[in-house]
Amino acid sequence: MRISYFLLPILLFHGFPCVAFAAAVADDQFSFSGFRDTDLNLDGTATVTPEGLLELTNGSVQLKGHAFFPAPFRLRGSPGGAVQSFSASFVFGIVSTYPSLSCHGIAFVVAPSKNFSTALAAQYMGLANIDNNGNVSNHIFATELDTMQNIEFEDIDNNHVGVNIDGLRSVQSHAAGYYGNSENDSFQSISLISGSVMRAWVDYDGELARIDVTIAPVQMSKPARPLVSATYNLSVVLTEQQYIGFSSATGPINSRHYILGWSFGVC
Ligand SMILES: *[C@@H]1O[C@H](CO)[C@@H](O)[C@H](O)[C@H]1NC(C)=O
Ligand SMILES: *[C@@H]1O[C@H](CO)[C@@H](O)[C@H](O)[C@H]1NC(C)=O
Ligand SMILES: *[C@@H]1O[C@H](CO)[C@@H](O)[C@H](O)[C@H]1NC(C)=O
Ligand SMILES: *[C@@H]1O[C@H](CO)[C@@H](O)[C@H](O)[C@H]1NC(C)=O
Ligand SMILES: *[C@@H]1O[C@H](CO)[C@@H](O)[C@H](O)[C@H]1NC(C)=O
Repeated sequence: MRISYFLLPILLFHGFPCVAFAAAVADDQFSFSGFRDTDLNLDGTATVTPEGLLELTNGSVQLKGHAFFPAPFRLRGSPGGAVQSFSASFVFGIVSTYPSLSCHGIAFVVAPSKNFSTALAAQYMGLANIDNNGNVSNHIFATELDTMQNIEFEDIDNNHVGVNIDGLRSVQSHAAGYYGNSENDSFQSISLISGSVMRAWVDYDGELARIDVTIAPVQMSKPARPLVSATYNLSVVLTEQQYIGFSSATGPINSRHYILGWSFGVC
């Protein structure tokens, strides 16, 4: 267990994700470098540890947990208008009992409701169930850090990052890793379940309807080239008001999924 390593990056986590964002509209952004005195809405296995880590799953099998920012966001510029650009960033770590096996992962979620009581654990990652998976009436955008390969969702491997709409089947995904900064653009793979602390960035460009997801070891600055890019117009997916949060679940392995810091902003 390398939990103590997790305390360091809290100190490294700072700043709002959208540099161009005007400070006046403070209601459209938040930033947490640790969760000790936050009032997130938690359910299932999700808790905040005494050290201030957001623990989404707690070492028990076949359970799910969620954490949501309590207030909803309006991501459209005006009622019925297009979804604006937004950026999220979070620091995470996954601790498994086994060095090469863990389940099932973490999803960053934008959803019309905080109520995922009917969603299933295990491969459904607390996001959907066998009946509503993929249904357009879910109005969900998610980014998955998926540590199991589920053939029924056409997962590419057991260590990938995916852009998901309304369910567990990704519209675009890539093996976990990053492209190096500078001239050396080579791909470096990373293991999501290594117990190391990593950071993820989820950026939506409303003008281009483009979703970029990037991950890197926590000590690295954001790689210039995203890991996964998908063109998908979230204006046709998201409702007027959205809740922002995380979903995670265990299957037969009692993995622990942690969030150490988190920021979100409408740009
Ligand atoms: C995890 O959370 C569940 C639900 O809150 C609880 O029943 C279970 O005892 C917890 N497991 C551990 C190992 O704390
Ligand atoms: C969540 O949804 C379930 C199923 O639709 C419902 O029974 C339950 O009352 C809801 N819980 C809350 C807190 O709204
Ligand atoms: C999608 O969900 C809606 C609302 O719950 C339901 O009426 C519809 O039958 C579902 N569609 C499919 C294909 O399951
Ligand atoms: C790029 O980086 C990788 C990994 O650090 C290294 O193996 C490779 O030799 C580098 N290539 C160049 C052209 O510097
Ligand atoms: C996305 O959809 C909205 C609403 O249908 C539309 O107004 C907007 O132009 C679309 N954006 C792009 C980039 O296609």
